[in-house]
Amino acid sequence: MNPDEERRFVSEIQALVEEAMSMESSDPHGAATKYLEISRKILDGSSSMNPDQKKKFMKIADTSLNRRDEITRKMPVPNRAGDDRQPAAKVPAGQSQKIEKYGPGTEFIVDLHPEIYETTFDDIAGLDEVKDTIIRQVIKARERPDLARKYGITGRNIFLFGPPGTGKTSIAQAISHEISYPMVTVTPSYILDNRFGAFEKNIRSLFEESLTHAPIIIFFDEFESLAPRRSSINSSYMKRGVPEMLRQMTDLRKRNDGQVILIAATNNPWDVDEAMLNPERFDTRIFIPPPDQKSRSEIFRIFLKDLELSDGIDYEELGVISEGFSAADIKYVCRTAAEYAFSRAVDSGVASPISDVDIRKALESSHPSITDAQMRKYHDFMEKYIQKT
Ligand SMILES: Nc1ncnc2c1ncn2[C@@H]1O[C@H](COP(=O)(O)OP(=O)(O)OP(=O)(O)O)[C@@H](O)[C@H]1O
Ligand SMILES: [Mg+2]
Repeated sequence: MNPDEERRFVSEIQALVEEAMSMESSDPHGAATKYLEISRKILDGSSSMNPDQKKKFMKIADTSLNRRDEITRKMPVPNRAGDDRQPAAKVPAGQSQKIEKYGPGTEFIVDLHPEIYETTFDDIAGLDEVKDTIIRQVIKARERPDLARKYGITGRNIFLFGPPGTGKTSIAQAISHEISYPMVTVTPSYILDNRFGAFEKNIRSLFEESLTHAPIIIFFDEFESLAPRRSSINSSYMKRGVPEMLRQMTDLRKRNDGQVILIAATNNPWDVDEAMLNPERFDTRIFIPPPDQKSRSEIFRIFLKDLELSDGIDYEELGVISEGFSAADIKYVCRTAAEYAFSRAVDSGVASPISDVDIRKALESSHPSITDAQMRKYHDFMEKYIQKT
């Protein structure tokens, strides 16, 4: 989020928080729903946040969920089985409806729209080593299941981590394409639920259903919010949800013959629960680095290829002067350059192709999102968790 977007987002969240607070005494159910809406809104927006913004907003999301927990706990229990003595925390209002919706035999995965993606490895510039590892460890195993079984290579789960906008989601999509497995994307806002038992139930339904929908890829995006470090969380539903997820993953290994592939992606691997970093859970763990100079040139080419361009665009030089820019940053630069040319065309009334100057101006006006300090953090993480295991 750029500063303007952040300011807008802050005021939207502030308005929702004020609304929720004002409803607490007159309409606790409405207030609880509003607090859930706040956390979902933050989780939905988190993919476009930088790490600092994420930290700040996730704190608000966590506080909102805790506040919702407190309100629901105080709410009168619906008298469903005629048992007024049942503890309020066990059956918060609305729980049964949600659990039934995602219960066994229902359509959790269908709701997530399984899809075989069109993205191919050729659409992804650079990352040759990453592609090579995936082809060797994942794709070949699907092509030769007989051989893979002989060598005990089944059920590979993949953990992708790296700075924002470097191609993690694109790689998951390309895997889906290459092996023709439909993929569902599970984001925190879809599966998190702070009502008692509901998050665990969602996890169980998801894993159960994955077997009946196999072959399938389950792509857990923003994995640090789905399986955060237990030592640093205080929401009770998360403390129960993470062990459930670990249990389900172990169970799936036993029952799965490579037909369900789990892919997790995160920008903040250090915030993921340590047990998830064990190779027993994710046997292929790959750092997705920012694009190097050659890949950046190629990414400029990819994003400009369908646009009206003037001659003489020096892609090589663009790669040199865009150090620290992610693929997503470069996409933004190309869009900005196109806007300059478009405004010129509107003002002058004559067609005006995008020039090298437009692109350089757009580059100068934007900031690279990947810093040296961030890169050091990834390297420290890898030294601690990846190379030794
Ligand atoms: N190596 C690459 N070559 C070409 N395009 C790329 C590459 N990496 C990413 N992109 C493009 O950049 C944009 C962002 O990529 P993607 O969503 O895959 O990144 P991400 O790592 O999942 O980001 P985030 O961490 O924010 O979820 C997409 O439009 C994608 O097509
Ligand atoms: Mg992504």
